[in-house]
Amino acid sequence: MKETSIHIPLLIKQEEELTPQEVKLLDEARRATYRSYAPYSHFSVGAAVELADGTIVSGSNQENAAYPSGLCAERTAVFYANSRYPDQPIRRICIVARDTEGQFLQTPISPCGACRQVLLEAEQRAGSDIEVLLYGTEGIYIVRNIKDLLPLGFDESFLL
Ligand code: THU
Repeated sequence: MKETSIHIPLLIKQEEELTPQEVKLLDEARRATYRSYAPYSHFSVGAAVELADGTIVSGSNQENAAYPSGLCAERTAVFYANSRYPDQPIRRICIVARDTEGQFLQTPISPCGACRQVLLEAEQRAGSDIEVLLYGTEGIYIVRNIKDLLPLGFDESFLL
């Protein structure tokens, strides 16, 4: 038997420690939570993605009475960015959530499995890291790329 381990560095920063560009992205993600359509979960998520040319695109979770037809904020933002700016690689994503009382979460949420899968492909398409900022009022978790969020992931290389 052989044992190995996967190490994932995680930075935790306070808002004051972010760069102005990061704060701008965070503000867009926070704003996006107010455009969420979440009449079923009452859980409002916003995601903002920064493209290579500095453009910021945001999205929010969009629910549906047929529950699985809804979409998470991350995929809404990524799919919108890729359909609107197909030649601009995604460089960074910031994710924010408000709870059923409307308060920003103290501890950040992290993307669901399906969103990680979509982000992994966006990262491979971009050809370089997509940095992830997960906002919580007590601290902002920063993961250096999507591969770290989805270790041992499945990608197109397995299809060849
Ligand atoms: N949701 C997101 O938009 N992103 C996540 O990372 C986790 C969950 C949404 C889906 C659903 O509308 C609501 O939050 C509750 O799961």
